[in-house]
Amino acid sequence: MEKLLIAANWKMNKTIGEAAEYIKDFIPRLAGWDRVEVVICPPFTCLAHLSEALQDTGIHLGAQNVFWESKGAFTGEISPAMLLEMGCRYVIIGHSERRQIMGESDQDINRKLKSASSSGLVPIFCVGETLQERETGQARDVVLRQLQQGLAGLALQDLVIAYEPVWAIGTGLNASPTDAQEMCGYIRESLGMIRDQSWAAAIPILYGGSVTAVNIAGFVEQQDINGALVGGASLDPEQFARIVRLNTDA
Ligand code: PGA
Repeated sequence: MEKLLIAANWKMNKTIGEAAEYIKDFIPRLAGWDRVEVVICPPFTCLAHLSEALQDTGIHLGAQNVFWESKGAFTGEISPAMLLEMGCRYVIIGHSERRQIMGESDQDINRKLKSASSSGLVPIFCVGETLQERETGQARDVVLRQLQQGLAGLALQDLVIAYEPVWAIGTGLNASPTDAQEMCGYIRESLGMIRDQSWAAAIPILYGGSVTAVNIAGFVEQQDINGALVGGASLDPEQFARIVRLNTDA
């Protein structure tokens, strides 16, 4: 993989004014640093502003959700074309909060993945087990099911996978780098079985779940971890810049 990819998932945080302040503070902190591709996924309402503010910075824009239909009577939903028009390159699909709170099924996620990737967006497809599933030895089966059902019938396209164990999200309880590597290695192996090995080898696999400036380096030095999806610690520009710089002074 050429570069690491580190994505900020702001979730339902920041008004346009707050986003503008953040960007002003954040951009200068990345000066001289090009080892990481950075993606910011703000709420829909900040996309237009950030699309302008991030021009010529090399930082990519992503959305946190998308609907599978291209237009019509779907109150409250947003289409892939609308996101592309806002300058989005990426879109998070299948986040555990959407699976758990909004009741998204593997079938819904499959439709979203198909629609987003055929429109030219790069999905950041989230998978991961709950604590109960891990404790009962089902973690691999759950992740494999999410991958198989999510990717069913999908053409070979650009894709990013984010392994986010549900018990590690927003809890301060990150997976250990070796546990995360074990699952990310299994994910790559599974992608190879689902499609083909050379495609699987080129797919960036991110770890997500309580990533901070303190633990980022331990994750990205693992063989099958190509970056991170960061929630809470991405909300502060100084913290997120330290994560993107892998907490080095380089
Ligand atoms: P967290 O969230 O970094 O706050 O644990 C990660 C995510 O939900 O993508």
